[in-house]
Amino acid sequence: MMWMLWFTSVIAFYSLSCAHGLVCPKKCVCEHTKSVQCFRIQAVPTGISSDVRKLNLDYNHIKEVKARDFTGLSDLQEVSLSSCGVELVEANAFLAQPSLRLLDLQKNKLRHVPRGLPPSLEILRVGHNHIQGLQGSAFEGLHRLRVLDIQSNMITVLRANALSALAKLECLYLDGNRIESLSGAPRLPQLNMLSMASNRISALSSAFFASLQSLRTLQLSGNLLTRVPHELPRALLHLSLDHNQIRALRNRDMAQLRNLTVLSVSANRVASIDGGLRLPNLTSLELSGNQLKVLPGRLATKLETLDCRQNSLQEVTHQHLTGMRHLKHLFLENNTIRHFEANALRNCLQLTNLALEQNLLTSIPEGLPHTLVRLDLKQNRIETIQEREVKTLKRLQVLNLRNNRLSSLSLGVVQLPRLQRMFLGGNPWNCTCELLRVKHALLARQVDIGEELCAEPAPHVGEHWRASLLEGQRCKEDLAEDAEDSDPDEQTENEDYYEYDA
Ligand SMILES: *[C@@H]1O[C@H](CO)[C@@H](O)[C@H](O)[C@H]1NC(C)=O
Ligand SMILES: *[C@@H]1O[C@H](CO)[C@@H](O)[C@H](O)[C@H]1NC(C)=O
Ligand SMILES: *[C@@H]1O[C@H](CO)[C@@H](O)[C@H](O)[C@H]1NC(C)=O
Ligand SMILES: *[C@@H]1O[C@H](CO)[C@@H](O)[C@H](O)[C@H]1NC(C)=O
Repeated sequence: MMWMLWFTSVIAFYSLSCAHGLVCPKKCVCEHTKSVQCFRIQAVPTGISSDVRKLNLDYNHIKEVKARDFTGLSDLQEVSLSSCGVELVEANAFLAQPSLRLLDLQKNKLRHVPRGLPPSLEILRVGHNHIQGLQGSAFEGLHRLRVLDIQSNMITVLRANALSALAKLECLYLDGNRIESLSGAPRLPQLNMLSMASNRISALSSAFFASLQSLRTLQLSGNLLTRVPHELPRALLHLSLDHNQIRALRNRDMAQLRNLTVLSVSANRVASIDGGLRLPNLTSLELSGNQLKVLPGRLATKLETLDCRQNSLQEVTHQHLTGMRHLKHLFLENNTIRHFEANALRNCLQLTNLALEQNLLTSIPEGLPHTLVRLDLKQNRIETIQEREVKTLKRLQVLNLRNNRLSSLSLGVVQLPRLQRMFLGGNPWNCTCELLRVKHALLARQVDIGEELCAEPAPHVGEHWRASLLEGQRCKEDLAEDAEDSDPDEQTENEDYYEYDA
């Protein structure tokens, strides 16, 4: 039955193709949507229907691309020749294709951007080739180009005037080249996105951005910058400066960025933030892997995520965090925090995630916001937990206490109504009757505690086996009573929290 159906549809397909007069060349698949794809070919095949719009020749072996390859195919809108080993594209190869919008030549062996591309082109991808420089003549006439992708080539110098024809350019990808110097100021009034990650840029002159007034996203990660470039365009929304050598963030260098929402300066050498960063629209600030000794203060009130992992922070005080009323995620793991002022986060009434693992805390900070959903305290030096430290955490779902110095827990501590997971491994637990009772209470409420808490219920009390036996018996009776009292059907409501490795 199935093959009958299949057969009928194949027949239908062919009759439809015939109705359109489509002849499909050998080694190609032709769809009635005027789209042709060919496999295992060494040259652009002849005999392609003249009304083809989309030609996909990816993953073939085509060393040279010539104008005559496309003779008669004047309706072509998209040509894709990526991963073909192309070494040369003849000048004016696509001049007879007045509707060509997209040309994909990624992952080939081109040494130059092809010349004489049609003015209709909107998207040009020449990433992952061997291009060493950009000549202005290559882009002449491309006044409709919106996307230019030249990433992962061997460009060392970027001359602004090479790009001057590209009046409509919106996205420019230059990541993964060897750009050391940038000369002049590119005039790209529509440029929205400029990505130059993983180059060798050590400085950008303030003139560089003068004519990039529409720029919203600037990606400069993985360069050799020692400071934040001056005169960044005011329209910026996202700025990424990760993996550079920036030592300080200064309000005066960035004060004009009033729309900036995401700033990422991870893995630099930032030791200070002078005068706070008064960026009124900032919602996310990433500063992990720097040399901060104190939390950046006076940050924007709209901030939702502050990531200061892996710095040299020693304390958390209210003074630093005052005003951050919208903070939801605070990442402070892998610092040397010993002191966490009581109620330091009292204004952060939206905070749901607090990551404090790998610090030097000896107790759970007091007065944490009741909005917390996830609290991470792995690998600190916590010896005991007081009921008052946690009893306000009515929304807490995940509590990580792995690798601390806890030997006991009291029943009051684990009464948190929404608790779902508790990580308890790596502590020197003393498996007393009390602790077993806690364990059973947690299990009865279906809190996930793994296997690690007192896996072998052998209460160790004194050396006398008889006393031990009696204690064990009493323990069992108590636990049986507890089981009757417990109410495992407590409703929990899920809220968002970051899911990261415990
Ligand atoms: C900031 O954003 C607003 C709203 O999108 C916009 O009207 C304004 O022009 C932007 N400012 C700059 C300098 O681009
Ligand atoms: C923040 O951004 C909004 C829109 O993106 C803009 O209208 C507003 O002016 C900005 N706020 C400030 C204080 O500049
Ligand atoms: C903690 O930080 C140190 C240096 O600051 C780093 O070498 C180490 O990899 C970090 N550990 C983790 C687990 O992130
Ligand atoms: C375990 O707790 C019991 C009862 O509180 C106590 O007597 C004993 O010394 C504790 N053992 C250790 C190793 O702390």
